[in-house]
Amino acid sequence: MRYYVHSILALALLTPGCAGGIGEVSGSSKEGTTGTNPFKGVSFFLNPEYTANVEATAAKHPEEAAHIRKVATYPTGVWLSDIKSVANLQGWLDEAKKQQDASGKPTLTMVVVYNLPERDCSAESSAGELSIDQNGEERYRMEFIDPIVAQFKAHASQPIAVILEPDSLGNMATNMAIPKCQRAKAVYRNGIVYALKGFHLPNVSVYLDAGHSGWLGWDDNRTKIARVFKNVLNDAGGPQMIRGFATNTSNYTHLSNRDGAALEPSNPCPNELTYVSTMLKTLEMYGFKDHHFIVDTSRNGKGGIRAKWGSWCNVHGAGLGERPRADPAPGIDAYFWVKPPGESDGSSDAAGPRFDAMCGVPDATKGAPQAGQWFESYFVDLVRNAKPPL
Ligand code: BGC
Repeated sequence: MRYYVHSILALALLTPGCAGGIGEVSGSSKEGTTGTNPFKGVSFFLNPEYTANVEATAAKHPEEAAHIRKVATYPTGVWLSDIKSVANLQGWLDEAKKQQDASGKPTLTMVVVYNLPERDCSAESSAGELSIDQNGEERYRMEFIDPIVAQFKAHASQPIAVILEPDSLGNMATNMAIPKCQRAKAVYRNGIVYALKGFHLPNVSVYLDAGHSGWLGWDDNRTKIARVFKNVLNDAGGPQMIRGFATNTSNYTHLSNRDGAALEPSNPCPNELTYVSTMLKTLEMYGFKDHHFIVDTSRNGKGGIRAKWGSWCNVHGAGLGERPRADPAPGIDAYFWVKPPGESDGSSDAAGPRFDAMCGVPDATKGAPQAGQWFESYFVDLVRNAKPPL
């Protein structure tokens, strides 16, 4: 999972303010969007598989074990990144139900849905299994989304938050010059519309991925992504099909420092909190009047770690960020550790499969395994660099 920050391109395309074409998103029902913040007043699912990785690492580092073990007390997202992984969903949701029954409190599971055909169209490391040429669109609907919907329905007493297809709509907004993204356009849109309709359930709150400030923070890019959201939601049935938007998924951008101003002075959003408040205003101009954000704070605790804002792969020196919690700031439903800290962003082996050049840049940590695999030494560094400290 990554994103394409082409700041040169962004600069070249920069136009001041929000260009025309502003209009209301169709659909007037409030059902599904509003109501209460789904993260408020609930417990969060703790994934035993993640906890086992933390525990195994703690056991190998006795002198830091107590510190490391604290990580296992915080929730992380579960990722559905291929058809095979959907088979895990029932187990995760059953376990969440047990935790719910034990605590007597509704227990929310954060599910990242990430398997569109031609996935990761602007990069390599998270390229997916489905392709347009091999019936990917139909397989996405029938073998991926439908069984996920069935599990959500089978766990109707449990709150579920979904982040739908990280990077995909951002790529539609800014990376249409890349042939793979151009080819994927209709399939991304159809797939997301199909998923939005299926996930429109009383226990499910959907957040569309909105990149992060270092990608979509520029005025022109905010306008573009708002238009894409508007169009997709028009097809899906209206803005009430989602609770809001997710930012910084798997990224490293700090909540509030000025790193962005130093790295990209032309970007009006130097950090995630500025991006959220600015994006809310842009979205409002496109008819999104009651939407909320979640921000991935799994690895954005420490600032000043990147030479380039566009570095996204196992960035060296990163630390765990703010702890997952509801209502942390205006307009934000939750901070959450969406990317499970310690799971790799991509392999650093230039000779191996799915190598992306961004996993070989000086900002990226060497010795990294494939995306999603446990990267133990990196995890230990995240713990040591945690800010606030654990
Ligand atoms: C990978 C997924 C993985 C996820 C969470 C993504 O970059 O492509 O396979 O599940 O990260 O670690």
